[in-house]
Amino acid sequence: MSVGIEQLAVYVPPYVLSLDALAAARGVPAEKFREGLGVREMAIAPPCEDVVTLAASAGARALRASRIDPGDIGMLLVATETGVDHAKPVSIFVHELLGIGRQCRVYELKHACYAGTAALMSAADWVRAGGTRPRRALVIAADIARYAIGSPGEPTQGAGAVAMVVGREPGSLVLGEESGTYAGNVYDFWRPLGRREAMVDGKYSVECYLEALAGAFTAYRALERPALGADEPLSARLARFLYHTPFPKMAVKAHRRLLELDWRATAARAAGETDRLEEAMVASHRDAVAPGLEAVARVGNTYTASLYLCLAALLEREGSRLAGQRLGLFSYGSGCCAEFFTGLVPTGVAVQAGVAELLRERTAIDIEAYERLVREGDAGGEPPPGFTGEFVFQGVRDERREYARFAPALAA
Ligand code: HMG
Repeated sequence: MSVGIEQLAVYVPPYVLSLDALAAARGVPAEKFREGLGVREMAIAPPCEDVVTLAASAGARALRASRIDPGDIGMLLVATETGVDHAKPVSIFVHELLGIGRQCRVYELKHACYAGTAALMSAADWVRAGGTRPRRALVIAADIARYAIGSPGEPTQGAGAVAMVVGREPGSLVLGEESGTYAGNVYDFWRPLGRREAMVDGKYSVECYLEALAGAFTAYRALERPALGADEPLSARLARFLYHTPFPKMAVKAHRRLLELDWRATAARAAGETDRLEEAMVASHRDAVAPGLEAVARVGNTYTASLYLCLAALLEREGSRLAGQRLGLFSYGSGCCAEFFTGLVPTGVAVQAGVAELLRERTAIDIEAYERLVREGDAGGEPPPGFTGEFVFQGVRDERREYARFAPALAA
């Protein structure tokens, strides 16, 4: 039975800060952010948005694009590490805002950036377990990545959400049934209770990511079916590689590590062709990785949503060209858990995730406005002119968060 992503839609908040401007303000050469990290812009949420409204706006877009009745959703999962309450899940606010029915399993998932994949895999398993029953899940990954002003993590902030309808008619991506996983307790990135900004051991987090990639990819190689021949690299079976992308240079490092592992695992290449590895890496990155990084370089880290923002933007740009081909996807969440899996782009794929349009419509803000927004925190309030979201966070009254629909449904 085919199970996977039927439809996916993105929401990115309306403010954007140029990373050249941030570099100038911090006294850092612009090339360090542009070349060293690969980032160009980062998305910033206005005070009237929080993780609930980001998730709900993406969810509304996905439901409209798939033309399904919200009442047909039997499972709603929201993955985030920007939770708004220690007990009340983001997902139940989203459930109400989207008008999803009462017969629905609803919960929030957390495991740093890995939670989006945890949600997708749980939803796919639930659909499979339903056998011939027409089960449909809505999975939403949403986050606002925040680091302290002036810290090395600051240029890797971002905000956004990706919603995926998961079911038995996967018109966007058919999920492979095997995946390679890896887990271990590491203190690479964390956010103690009560803190708004994440804490991170930056260089160590890069090492942890690469080690987890090695573990998950190696586990997956052994599970690939039909089994790989002794001299056959898995990478030759995959047309594109998508990585959890806190900043695009991380995907460059990840792809290099993956190709090294893949080549070393093949006897003939390891013996005779290692001198060609560097050349092959450059070509492979250019053709199979870089096309999936354009949007993330303009949005920044969206934590749980990052991998799926890359997927949505890739399928929107070149889905039909990739029809019939397989993609390799790597998900990493600090702390840590990681998963490598594959998906087949089906014939007839037609993804309009809304990425290009949302990026075009954003309003540029300057450093003063950005720092003011950081200082003011999540106040809630009125939507700014040109607001593209569909829901607003009005503020907190009597210790309760209040939300409202902003505008009639926009065309997705
Ligand atoms: P940094 O202090 O900017 O590091 O921190 P750097 O000084 O090594 O510079 C970065 C790169 O810029 C280097 O390239 C420099 O050579 C280059 P590399 O050696 O890595 O290839 N560079 C220049 N290039 C051109 N012109 C110049 C120039 N100067 C330097 N003039 C760091 C970088 C990533 C550590 C920091 O941004 C950080 O702490 N970020 C947050 C943590 C992070 O994103 N970690 C990634 C792995 S963990 C993960 O992905 C999980 C996460 O998403 C959270 C979750 O799971 O929830 C974070």
